[in-house]
Amino acid sequence: MTPEDLKPLVRTIPDFPKPGILFRDVTTLMGHGEGFAAAVGMMADKVQACEGQAIAGIEARGFIFGAAIAAKLAMPFIPVRKPGKLPVPVLAIDYALEYGTDTLEVDPGAVVDGSRIVLIDDLLATGGTALAACELLRRAGGVVAEALFLVDLPDLGGAERLRRAGVAVEALLDYP
Ligand code: PRP
Ligand code: ADE
Repeated sequence: MTPEDLKPLVRTIPDFPKPGILFRDVTTLMGHGEGFAAAVGMMADKVQACEGQAIAGIEARGFIFGAAIAAKLAMPFIPVRKPGKLPVPVLAIDYALEYGTDTLEVDPGAVVDGSRIVLIDDLLATGGTALAACELLRRAGGVVAEALFLVDLPDLGGAERLRRAGVAVEALLDYP
């Protein structure tokens, strides 16, 4: 399979969760065994190409892809969590979403000083979530080797925003 084969597996829902948002729903790709395996395999190849040493996934959809990639490569998985979930003192950051605001937290003890971390999420929109996660991982002592997504929405400017902040960005699929 190629990235082009994966594109029809992502479902598009207008006006979810708010009017005007064109929601790119990756659960239909996950529901296609061969497509899900191919997406995880292609993303794992990119992790190896940038010499990543650990995977960080953003809750919740980033856990699904990030954990599958980490297990495939037998790499450590670092959960970047929504607030109040980690049972230890955390580093935390607030950020703006395409539709609302939220907070992310990471256990600084999960990050090996100087290790090359690949940040994984299902989708890049405005880049607010990924930028916040990169900032947390850097504060925890990691080096963000790359931010890697299944889907990029380039019109929302996230990739450009991340690159301006010094983060390398890749995605398998884009929806202009
Ligand atoms: C979605 C998506 C990304 C983020 C992208 O997560 O999974 O994490 O939005 O948006 P941005 O680039 O504008 O920041 P959401 O907050 O909806 O949470 P979920 O994964 O728990 O569904
Ligand atoms: N997260 C933020 N924006 C999104 C969109 N348009 N589709 C799916 N997930 C999203």
